[in-house]
Amino acid sequence: MADIVVPMTIRDLTRADLPSCRWSGSPTHLVSIATALDRAERGEVDYLCACPPSGFPLGHCGIDYARSPGAGTLWQLAVHGGLQSLGIGTQLIQAAEQRIRGRGLGRAELAVEESNPRARVLYERLGYAEFDRETQGWDDQTEEGYFVRYETQCILMRKELGPER
Ligand SMILES: CC(C)(COP(=O)(O)OP(=O)(O)OC[C@H]1O[C@@H](n2cnc3c(N)ncnc32)[C@H](O)[C@@H]1OP(=O)(O)O)[C@@H](O)C(=O)NCCC(=O)NCCS
Repeated sequence: MADIVVPMTIRDLTRADLPSCRWSGSPTHLVSIATALDRAERGEVDYLCACPPSGFPLGHCGIDYARSPGAGTLWQLAVHGGLQSLGIGTQLIQAAEQRIRGRGLGRAELAVEESNPRARVLYERLGYAEFDRETQGWDDQTEEGYFVRYETQCILMRKELGPER
């Protein structure tokens, strides 16, 4: 069978994309993305997505410039389950680092759950190193629709961003 090559574009996520992001989480998660888009309008956040030619977002990544002084903090990085391990997450992270450099900042940070070793290995491969650990929490919704507070131990990682090669 012949390989099919699908070009992916990284662009800013818009409100019109929100219904197409249902794959990435619960309705509460979509509300948190909408809140991030409000913050993007105020310049505090960039919110990127990776799309095939249809424009449908198959991966996304937020960058928060207000969380850690002098750094852009990547969060809500996710790639559609059917398209993981193809390099889309790597492309999103590299595009996020470019945005951070574009703001004149020299450091990228992120938090990864201790229970997510695969994502952690990916970040290490891309040059991120642990600098701390903390408990993080956020509101979410179960499949049955119950609201829950999710708390988890996270590894905080960072990368000094050199000039773009
Ligand atoms: C973590 C996550 C965002 C990574 O995205 P991804 O698109 O799968 O990441 P990449 O494909 O760039 O790299 C990951 C893997 O693909 C491999 N890979 C990278 N480029 C590749 C390519 N061109 N062809 C084939 N494999 C490739 C890497 O070696 C790596 O190997 P692994 O599957 O053994 O880990 C994604 O898996 C995800 O959404 N997971 C669920 C949510 C989550 O955990 N988010 C992170 C929160 S901190």
